[in-house]
Amino acid sequence: MESSKNRYPSVKEINDYDRIRIVKEIFSTITGKYDFLNHFLSLRRDVAWRRFTVEQMRFFNTYRFLDVATGTSDLAIEAALQYPDIQVIGLDFVRQMLDQGMKKIESKGLSTRIDLIKGDALHIPLPDKSFDAAGVAFGIRNIPDKIRALTELRRVVVPRGQVLVLEMTFPRIPCFRQFYDLYLNRILPLLARVFSPNPDAYYYLGESIMNFPSVKGFALMMKDAGLVDVEVYTLTLGICHLFIGHKP
Ligand SMILES: C[S@@+](CC[C@H](N)C(=O)[O-])C[C@H]1O[C@@H](n2cnc3c(N)ncnc32)[C@H](O)[C@@H]1O
Repeated sequence: MESSKNRYPSVKEINDYDRIRIVKEIFSTITGKYDFLNHFLSLRRDVAWRRFTVEQMRFFNTYRFLDVATGTSDLAIEAALQYPDIQVIGLDFVRQMLDQGMKKIESKGLSTRIDLIKGDALHIPLPDKSFDAAGVAFGIRNIPDKIRALTELRRVVVPRGQVLVLEMTFPRIPCFRQFYDLYLNRILPLLARVFSPNPDAYYYLGESIMNFPSVKGFALMMKDAGLVDVEVYTLTLGICHLFIGHKP
């Protein structure tokens, strides 16, 4: 059997073009099991993290929310459920993820409130200042040019609008760091081998978490992208963080 490390090279060894190609391949092959594995591997913490993120949103002008890298649309759905007056757009560049998302949206009777479009976070095909809030959950770590993605998110929100980024991070607490390292690099790939149609993907995803910038470093990137009053929320011992920046 081909070794996992051979199938997806280290994040550090590849250029941006290959990284994007791999991300597209990964998310088009794990689609069917993506929700189950997300909930299972995070002990359903992912659901609580998205709920918390949506609770921080403020709608005051356009009453529209954009969910970039929407995947199977969980953040979009949570926003539509928490705020019955808003309209939501979800954007992703993997058709299979959007198809799965659409099934969930239809089953929850939200088709008139959530539209899904295929597109790239680096070239959002939507006008400036068209949303009160734009967010990305567990997507920014897969985007090599993070400042450009953040700049696009800033472009599409109204002045005083929010850019929300929810992302997995490597914890700082010493002993927990070691345990989490073991979890990401040994336990997670083993569990994925049992449950996922593409277990190799989980080596790559684990590595992408370890290579995500520090919390301070990412907050600085948000400022570099022109966002102000950046707030940082530490979730579940630092394995996840929510960053909220505002458009001046
Ligand atoms: C880990 S999933 C997260 C999905 C969802 N936001 C969630 O909360 O579960 C990452 C998603 O980001 C998408 N993605 C990555 N880079 C992207 C880009 N440049 N433009 C659009 N979507 C992208 C992938 O296709 C995938 O569906």
